[in-house]
Amino acid sequence: MPELKDVHKNRLDRFRQRMEEAGAEAVIILKPENRAYLSGFEGSAGMLLITKNQALLLVDFRYLEQAKNQAPHFEIIQYRQPLSETLRRVFQELNLEMVGFEQDYVTWEQYEIWTTRLGDLVEFIPLPDLTQKLRMVKGAEELKAIMEAVAIADSAFLDILPLIRPGFQERELAVELEYAMRRRGAQAMAFETIVASGPRSSLPHGAPTERVLQAGDLVIIDFGAKCQGYCSDCTRTVSIGPPTPKQREIYDLVQRAQDAALKAISPGVPASRVDAVARQIINEQGYGETFGHSLGHGVGRVVHEEPTLINRDQTILQPGMVVTVEPGVYLPGWGGVRIEDLVVVTTSGCEVLTHCIKGLSIT
Ligand code: GLY
Ligand code: MN
Ligand code: MN
Repeated sequence: MPELKDVHKNRLDRFRQRMEEAGAEAVIILKPENRAYLSGFEGSAGMLLITKNQALLLVDFRYLEQAKNQAPHFEIIQYRQPLSETLRRVFQELNLEMVGFEQDYVTWEQYEIWTTRLGDLVEFIPLPDLTQKLRMVKGAEELKAIMEAVAIADSAFLDILPLIRPGFQERELAVELEYAMRRRGAQAMAFETIVASGPRSSLPHGAPTERVLQAGDLVIIDFGAKCQGYCSDCTRTVSIGPPTPKQREIYDLVQRAQDAALKAISPGVPASRVDAVARQIINEQGYGETFGHSLGHGVGRVVHEEPTLINRDQTILQPGMVVTVEPGVYLPGWGGVRIEDLVVVTTSGCEVLTHCIKGLSIT
């Protein structure tokens, strides 16, 4: 595995190439996932300023020591509020005239403060997120972190399997699952755990409630751990007690759609194509209207990132991309089924990363 400092140097080189293509001489990076990806700095506040030849990380006192340790190839600058005074000095020293920023992250208020205080010196240019595209293809060290998060979540699910039975509340189940993930080494949850049972399982993102599980329920459990800054994402749907024929029918349909999508994933295939393959199977059975979300999404430092497996995303899949494959069927008043696994695109297809126990009747 390459040394971490080489990894970050390589990311910075690739970012600068994108910066040049965008015609920007300097870019401010504030999005936490981009800041960490480019610099290695994992703190919760700080600003990167990247130019052709300089890489600066501006932090306040709380993060000074951490920044020096985690981002050795960045020049660390400590600022005191107001940050604009430090920025004025830095912009002058670097002779900057135009500074790009992440247009999908900086607030209107922040933009107004910058232009009011520094507009006499530089022009602030809104830019699309140049880092997100770089983050789509994961390096070996990123895959290792994702696999660690997956392994933690997989075994945590096994820990709580005996609790998926009549008498337990959705909320208790979520708490136990989150505790099991933390106990096994998760630094945080990748997102808020979903537990939706019985008729509530038709809510694709049902937050856990005090509803008590009952025999005959379908239960959707969607959970992920975060490890070394990287997320996992997995959904299992289980029946409490023997499934009804209709529960079995819908589950098998969703599983068939997922199997077909997994087979369709290969380098060179557009993201939209994989969505179409799964959707066609669900459409053919007359349930198309009940599968109202995308088939999947990229996963990395954040749980939803590019590419998206959806009809409007023409991104060509490449080895190293990590995406979920999560078809679902949701019938209000009856319940729902979603099956979600995480995969990495390989040179010849894809490898499923989640090895979490699977099946409608596993309880
Ligand atoms: N956990 C949210 C999702 O699967 O997209
Ligand atoms: Mn997902
Ligand atoms: Mn999920």
